[in-house]
Amino acid sequence: MRKFVSFLFIGVLIIAVALLTHAQMSDKAQLGRELFHDPTFKGTIKPGKLQGSATGLSCANCHADFDDMSNPDGLIRAGHSVVGVPHRGEAKGGMIKGADFARAAGGGGFCYQHFLQRVSSDKVNPTAIPAEHAEALMAYFEAISGDNTGPEFTIEMLDADAKKAAGEKIAAMRGDAQKGWQLFGRACAVCHPTPYKPGIGPRLVTSRVPRDIDKAMIRWATKIRGGGSLMPFYASDILSDQDIADILAFLREQIESTKK
Ligand code: HEC
Ligand code: HEC
Repeated sequence: MRKFVSFLFIGVLIIAVALLTHAQMSDKAQLGRELFHDPTFKGTIKPGKLQGSATGLSCANCHADFDDMSNPDGLIRAGHSVVGVPHRGEAKGGMIKGADFARAAGGGGFCYQHFLQRVSSDKVNPTAIPAEHAEALMAYFEAISGDNTGPEFTIEMLDADAKKAAGEKIAAMRGDAQKGWQLFGRACAVCHPTPYKPGIGPRLVTSRVPRDIDKAMIRWATKIRGGGSLMPFYASDILSDQDIADILAFLREQIESTKK
């Protein structure tokens, strides 16, 4: 009986500690958490069709708020996990640093304008995100990071020639369409329509077969590795050359099967 009581006591203690640590997230971090998942950014991003309007994307569509390299949930996101952001000190390959780093929510201010509000990348001001929102996002990143510096990665910023060279190399590789379908579902279906689900990206498989499908594959591989306007780029630690070749093999098979 004594043993049982002490087990009970320890059990209650563990639950109490768990609840307390959970409740420890500050109001600011809690706001950051909600902003991270909300395409309207708490209603501050307005709907509409003009430049600077809501795309319907949220930060969570492209970034995990947990370490998705060591604890994968199966989805493939274009951006890296935001765990460890406060430890990085700079973003966008050093373009955002110093006092701007926190003001730009560790680089998230760029994504906020570009991906959530459709501001073209040459007009984006990463510190245009309201100070209160930047602080809230950083507080959330701190709450989920603690001492964890997050995944190690380096972002290679490819110029137009490097993107094209990568596209040509990938398009010349053989791919596995079955693997490609799985990768497409985990990475791309969030934005690209499938026959029964719409999305903000163009329909990649249509009954209109491109006149030169080989050329189209080079263009597409370049787009996936290099990105477009709203199309995020996929770094090679997120999708390898072989992964992209597999996705293209799947798309090609689908396109060719629609040919009469
Ligand atoms: C459409 C996809 C997409 C959306 C939506 C998006 N991001 Fe990003 N983000 C990226 C990509 C791609 C990068 C490139 C670097 C990387 O892979 O982490 C990036 C980079 C970042 C970085 C690191 C910058 C660096 O260079 O170190 C942070 C922080 C970040 N995003 C936060 C956010 C926040 C906060 C939001 C929501 C306001 C958001 N992102 C929305 C795709 C996205
Ligand atoms: C965050 C949304 C988003 C995600 C995720 C996304 N795309 Fe896109 N993609 C777009 C948008 C929007 C366009 C339209 C053109 C642009 O923005 O550059 C596009 C364009 C493209 C194009 C060019 C189509 C053409 O005919 O010009 C290809 C190919 C493509 N995406 C493939 C992919 C693949 C493969 C994946 C997954 C690995 C993917 N996309 C993930 C949004 C997305």
